[in-house]
Amino acid sequence: MKTYHLPVILCFVSKVTILTPATVANLGPGFDCLGLALDISLRVEVEESQGLHISYQGEGEVPLNQNNLIYRALVLAYRRLGKTLPGVKIHCQNDIPLARGLGSSAAAAASGLLAANHLLGEPLGGDELLELGAELEGHADNMAAALFGGCQIVIQDRGRLAHSPVKLPRGLKAVLFIPDFEMPTLKSRALLSPQVSREDAVYNLGRVAMLVAALAQGKLELLTLATQDRLHQPARTKLFQAMPVIFKAASEAGALGVCLAGGGSSILALTKVNTSAIAQAMEKMAKAEGVSGRTLITQPNTWGAHRPQE
Ligand code: HSE
Repeated sequence: MKTYHLPVILCFVSKVTILTPATVANLGPGFDCLGLALDISLRVEVEESQGLHISYQGEGEVPLNQNNLIYRALVLAYRRLGKTLPGVKIHCQNDIPLARGLGSSAAAAASGLLAANHLLGEPLGGDELLELGAELEGHADNMAAALFGGCQIVIQDRGRLAHSPVKLPRGLKAVLFIPDFEMPTLKSRALLSPQVSREDAVYNLGRVAMLVAALAQGKLELLTLATQDRLHQPARTKLFQAMPVIFKAASEAGALGVCLAGGGSSILALTKVNTSAIAQAMEKMAKAEGVSGRTLITQPNTWGAHRPQE
């Protein structure tokens, strides 16, 4: 019998690039259970190397040592799979403003997890990445949207997470007012009461259900009511007193729905038209209230964290 020897090609992956979107959690009433990915990104390159080298370009400043969240995500994924992370060189290009409710931490954690998963031959599925990401970063709503893109619903059940996408209407635009001041999530959450009244719970339940239906069915005229909230935004105005009047200015300029982005400080206005007028109205009202900041017109995205084609 003849024996054939096939050539064996060993392919070691030692470098990977990951692109991850910004995200807005809550969308008003969906406190801790809705997230929307936006077309603003964090690009991360991870390469096996000697020791740890991190370089960073873009928004704000982040730790360039072992406290770096991308690095911590890499370590967590390797450790969870019983492996030791080799030395790595990490390069980040980050367009996501930090501590402004735009999911920069979730994007960093998701990038590290995806990079680790790729370097290790893709052993982890989406659900496992979500569990790890939420464990590391703490906010499953941002994490689900960062990993899977678009609009995501996420819920917890006895420590496990379940998630589902929400169909988005075509042509939806996102207008952001991004204040110069930060609202770190811990500080912004510390303002929230541990208990809510039944009346407020029902107020939000109806609106979040209406919001999902409005997005999925393209009934955008419902967004004005469907983005209202009583569970977190009112308490958070203590850190951002001009929030309600900036919401009002955006609505009067034609925004369909307006909400605080995650725990703040950015404000998100959803619309199909009049994006520049809405941006200008928000900036003008903020300025009149003594709040400096900038505006950004973007759109929801459908891609989550992924390896871009080079
Ligand atoms: N759902 C979280 C919060 C998101 O509102 O605190 C933090 O970005």
